[in-house]
Amino acid sequence: MNQLVQPKRKTAVGRGSRPHRAATGVSRCCRAAFVYLHIGKEGTVAELKLTLPDKSGRDHTFRLMRCGPADAARILALQEEVLSGMEDRTLFARTSVEELVESLREDWCLAVLDGEEMAAFTLMVVNRVSPRSAGTYLGYDEAQLLKCVTYDTTFVHPRFRGLGLQRELGRLKDEAALALGAAEALATVSPENGPSLRNILLRGFEICGDQLLYSGVRRYIMRKKL
Ligand SMILES: CC(C)(COP(=O)(O)OP(=O)(O)OC[C@H]1O[C@@H](n2cnc3c(N)ncnc32)[C@H](O)[C@@H]1OP(=O)(O)O)[C@@H](O)C(=O)NCCC(=O)NCCS
Repeated sequence: MNQLVQPKRKTAVGRGSRPHRAATGVSRCCRAAFVYLHIGKEGTVAELKLTLPDKSGRDHTFRLMRCGPADAARILALQEEVLSGMEDRTLFARTSVEELVESLREDWCLAVLDGEEMAAFTLMVVNRVSPRSAGTYLGYDEAQLLKCVTYDTTFVHPRFRGLGLQRELGRLKDEAALALGAAEALATVSPENGPSLRNILLRGFEICGDQLLYSGVRRYIMRKKL
């Protein structure tokens, strides 16, 4: 059973500040912890531990870190490593430096850490008016864009694949989106990206469009009510 644990003592939140990262004692969480993760816009605001059973049956403990602008270089380095290991690069649309910097200021960005190593990263465009909202592909007006979030990207270091991280990050984004007051979650996924498509369908998304996006690659538009 996946388990989330939360530091007992909440870290101070401040714009631009980076509170210390030492997680202390634990207590079972869930929704409250993720509401808490939303409080700050910049810097690391909380740490949680995530324990997933790995394939040998042992638990694997990660830390979750809300990312801010100071984390851009590490995230970009992981993205390049992931891309360099992909046989078919059309399955994954690179997030540009500009997009990442914008999202680290305005959106919900979470990294999974294994010790000090970044094992995975996910980014959710929050309910705001932005050409990066997948609602634009569905012709949503501003009022609709303000009610929907977009699960924009997730990438996992090859060493940490198959542990269920993407699946778990999907669950966390659902929690975060609800806490942000979103009514709908959107995403795009390549019909050829088996693990991603399976995970997103398991999270209750449905295919509501099929378009050529990101310079001409095929993507399903996925949608679910929250
Ligand atoms: C797609 C991706 C995010 C999946 O991450 P993940 O954390 O390994 O996914 P999960 O562990 O939740 O896996 C889901 C399923 O796929 C399997 N799987 C995923 N990657 C695998 C791998 N490299 N080897 C074997 N199995 C794998 C899992 O075992 C699981 O199988 P199940 O449905 O039978 O249980 C990851 O492979 C990745 O970073 N790919 C490159 C970037 C990308 O395509 N991102 C998604 C588009 S934004």
